[in-house]
Amino acid sequence: MQKILVAEDSELNRELLCEILKEEYVVETAGDGRQALETLALHTGETAAVLLDLHMPKLDGFAVLKEMRKKGWLGRIPVLVISSEPAVAVENQCFDLGVSDFIHKPFESSIVKNRVRNAIELFTCKNQLEQKVEEQAQKLERQYEIIQRQAKKLREAKPFNRLMTEYTSAIMEVETKLKVLNAEFSQEYNRNPFESIKTRLKSPESISEKLERKGFPFTVESIQENLTDVAGVRVICSFPDDIYRLADLLTGQDDIVLIRKKDYIQNPKPNGYRSLHLILSVPIFLSNEKKYMNVEVQFRTIAMDFWASLEHKLKYKRNVNEADEIVSQLKMCADSIERLDYQMQEIRNRIDRSRC
Ligand code: GTP
Ligand code: MG
Repeated sequence: MQKILVAEDSELNRELLCEILKEEYVVETAGDGRQALETLALHTGETAAVLLDLHMPKLDGFAVLKEMRKKGWLGRIPVLVISSEPAVAVENQCFDLGVSDFIHKPFESSIVKNRVRNAIELFTCKNQLEQKVEEQAQKLERQYEIIQRQAKKLREAKPFNRLMTEYTSAIMEVETKLKVLNAEFSQEYNRNPFESIKTRLKSPESISEKLERKGFPFTVESIQENLTDVAGVRVICSFPDDIYRLADLLTGQDDIVLIRKKDYIQNPKPNGYRSLHLILSVPIFLSNEKKYMNVEVQFRTIAMDFWASLEHKLKYKRNVNEADEIVSQLKMCADSIERLDYQMQEIRNRIDRSRC
């Protein structure tokens, strides 16, 4: 049974309250404020609630509340004031000090029972939630330390740095292939199928974070086997049909193997994200071997890229005010961007047709 402390100087009221609560709780009593604090100090962990009178000898209820607040007990133990004090100002003063409820004397037994039960239930939930948050924060802290330690180890390992050089070479291969296609299109058709290319090599921290999150071992072999996005190329096109044309031309080349395709343009993410993602296996030619490396290539229009960078900011910022509204505004913008992209493409097609 849970323990309740009744701090009340009137013996009659103490007995009445004990009688009301004894079926559901073990009731401890204190006849003044000092005794109440002493009892609480001995049983802080086990006390489920305190019923507190305001007018008591030695230390009154306000002094008890102030002391409880100072010791940090008020956040863990609900306090229900039981008083004959009629003034609203006094009641508010108690709430300001952090009490959970205020019961007026003379009290009704069923009301006391219900209010005590409610206060205890609420605090139990709150305390459990706080404990979960605390555990989660500690887990994150531990994970962060592991990631930092592993990233440092990777940075210092020669095989890892060699692997990163190989991924960088694979990025250069893909970039060159795309630039060749651009040059050819520019020459033959007087247009560029893409506006710009951005490349990035995943950082040791980011690699360690993903290995840890997915439960993969922290080895060079594991990076090659399990991660497909260490080498990243982003191709920014003007129009949606350029995206598909370029992707087909690239995957059609006989030294490239298409490992995976995710078409978020045909099947946008619920947040509105649209891009075409390809995981390609690309050969690099080293001094004594030919090695296939995975490269993640993302194709988007200029407008989709603009949207994705703004959306990315929201994802990595915590505690953004009005986040729900921003999410729905971003979704609306993504849908407008799709319409605009296809309208612009249609206009370009009409211009092209009217030229010939
Ligand atoms: P990751 O573990 O993040 O690599 O996801 P995944 O393996 O499921 O691959 P996916 O193809 O869904 O996403 C790969 C990359 O695309 C991400 O790392 C981001 O750079 C980008 N991306 C995917 N979804 C979103 C999104 O909703 N918003 C933005 N801004 N970028 C996204
Ligand atoms: Mg990724």
